Amino acid sequence: MAGKVLTERYETLSRQIAQTVADQLKAKPTSCFGLPTGQSPKGCYKLLGAWSKALELNWEKASCFALDDYLEAEESITFQTFLEDNLYCHTNLSGDRRFNPRFVDDYDDLIASRGGLDLTLLGIGANGHIAFNEPGTPLESWTHCIWLTESTRDSNKRYFGSNVTVPHRGITMGIRTILESKSLILVASGNNKKRALERALAGPVDPSIPASFLSLHPNVTVLKDFN
Ligand code: F6R
Repeated sequence: MAGKVLTERYETLSRQIAQTVADQLKAKPTSCFGLPTGQSPKGCYKLLGAWSKALELNWEKASCFALDDYLEAEESITFQTFLEDNLYCHTNLSGDRRFNPRFVDDYDDLIASRGGLDLTLLGIGANGHIAFNEPGTPLESWTHCIWLTESTRDSNKRYFGSNVTVPHRGITMGIRTILESKSLILVASGNNKKRALERALAGPVDPSIPASFLSLHPNVTVLKDFN
């Protein structure tokens, strides 16, 4: 991977990522952000929410694009609801600037019409997925619907009540959508990501580890909280 790979405590890496988002927003108020859900970005969103509530950040002209979401899922468990609860509701980002691929016919056209993604945050799945691009996703993929692998459904069970079935399908930005972003930050939190990240960083590009495609991007930073 051409970019930096840094190892930090979770609190430290969350602060660094939040600071990068804040700097981007201040330098370019009309910035477009690609945003993941899950445990990995939660610390960063908490800080961004606090800084926004303290009126240190102005999201009025920014646009945020969820990376992915479940299909056929109860609203309360969707990624959009996660982003609303963990970030958007603490900011002054208006409702018509909170985008989600479930509600847009051509997500890639919309992103392009807004000037493209400036900064995209990513998590990594234990199977090497980025967004919901599961192993086997081709490089030339744009926003598309997918079937979730059993390993992803299994690892996401922790976010669902015991009587709720994890959805089988989702919609996600493609690998090409992600690589078009001007800069990328991958946050890998949790030892269960270690093997996938090692394979992604070792190269060469391998569709069975979708995160390995990131080595094709000139401006990617990886932050991990394990050795
Ligand atoms: C979710 C997403 C996924 C997660 C990944 C890691 O929007 O893009 O790729 O980033 O599954 O999830 P956590 O951080 O919960 O371990």
